[in-house]
Amino acid sequence: MENPDLTLELTADEMRRLVAQVMEHLVAHIESLPRQPAVALEGGAEAARRFVEPLPEQGQPYSTLLPLLFEQAIPTSFNTAGPGYLAYIPGGGLFHTAVADLITDAVNRYMGLWVAAPALAQIEATVIRWFCDLVGYPASARGLLTTGGSLANFSAVVTARRDRLPENFLVGTMYVSDQTHHSIQKAALLAGFPPANVRAIPVDSQFRVQVDALEQRMIADRQAGFRPFLIVGNAGTTNTGAVDDLPALATIAQREGAWFHADAAYGGCFLFTAQGRTAMRGIELADSITLDPHKGLFLSYGTGSLLVKDGAALKRAHQVTAAYLPSVEDDPEVVDFANMSPELSREFRGLRVWLPFKMHGAPPFRRNLEEKLALTRWATAELRTISGIEIVAEPQLSIVAFRLTRPGLGPEALNRLNQELLQRINARKRVYLSSTFLNGNFVIRICILSFRTHLDRVQMCLEDIRAVVEALSPA
Ligand SMILES: Cc1ncc(COP(=O)(O)O)c(C=O)c1O
Repeated sequence: MENPDLTLELTADEMRRLVAQVMEHLVAHIESLPRQPAVALEGGAEAARRFVEPLPEQGQPYSTLLPLLFEQAIPTSFNTAGPGYLAYIPGGGLFHTAVADLITDAVNRYMGLWVAAPALAQIEATVIRWFCDLVGYPASARGLLTTGGSLANFSAVVTARRDRLPENFLVGTMYVSDQTHHSIQKAALLAGFPPANVRAIPVDSQFRVQVDALEQRMIADRQAGFRPFLIVGNAGTTNTGAVDDLPALATIAQREGAWFHADAAYGGCFLFTAQGRTAMRGIELADSITLDPHKGLFLSYGTGSLLVKDGAALKRAHQVTAAYLPSVEDDPEVVDFANMSPELSREFRGLRVWLPFKMHGAPPFRRNLEEKLALTRWATAELRTISGIEIVAEPQLSIVAFRLTRPGLGPEALNRLNQELLQRINARKRVYLSSTFLNGNFVIRICILSFRTHLDRVQMCLEDIRAVVEALSPA
């Protein structure tokens, strides 16, 4: 029975034409990235309203839909793919990610259980092995690609809880610094802990957790009847890129019988560099590590990873079986990702990492990361030459935090001055910077991590900062 109204399958020609037209838009978009504004939020709300619509009963040609996306929806945004995006944590978005997703989604293989596509599952397992080698994990380590650092941190907290606490776990307390990413707080909440069970320990002048204070708090908690079960160490904080004293945290965790998780979502990829390896010395002592390829490996959003030194613990924490599923493999070489994560159905995420590494090898990644560290040192040295600028956080990796100071201005007035500074820098649209509060002070951050950001853009950033500082200076 032939009924054209049922036909959702595109013909070979239609597929080719659709992808060719999409490619025209994409190539024009990517080639123009250096000339696009770093941010363009004007008209965003109106643009959004254009997309409030009922379910269409009639189709329309994609030749009208693609311009709608590329001309009206995409431009009103933070330009997270462009070289001027130095806010939050950039990455850029390698085009390879998009190609990998096209293949992944078109073949649409199931990646929950090994048996469903063994070679593809092995590709993801191999990518995880590369990361385990990078952090210095033994053969017993296992892990998986997640959709991002938050989900990796969530599974880490669940694994720690299931490994170190009884079923009735509310006596468990966990230890973070006051600089730890809020995804850990959220993970604790989702894992069933009230916010008060998360102890935020103060940091030192370099924004690294005060190890003594952490240890004292754990001892006091134990004496009060709590069970300290998890320490989260920062391997590159979001605010300033600070790296905690990982060996010291590992020693305390071991002494206290606590799980030690390193949040290296931002910093981890710098293990490709000598500076990163020095900064994150001891990371291999952690029981689990979060490392985000959609940050320091420049992939498009949607790829994080969790590595667990004792892979069996990850599996014990997540494995639940059902009668309608194939039997679970006991072979340690066989990896059933559904048994290591909250997800059952999942796509072939591994290709996003495998494809660019296989095409280029590791050296360009290494060189890009070394370049970002050098650019951050350069930017910091330049900032120092601007009258009134104070470096609030020396870069430990590729983030520098600074503010403008002015004699005689109180904290509130200084905060307002720096908000004005940030707003005027961003209004020039060559770079987009973001802010945070450190010790109660509003500070501006430069985070250099996109593979598209090179010296020319960091020079523009410094030119703009210098020009705005001069314009803001009292006559
Ligand atoms: C240190 C750190 N941990 C965790 C996360 C959360 O990662 P995601 O945004 O991929 O969920 C971030 C995000 O910036 C981060 O910087």
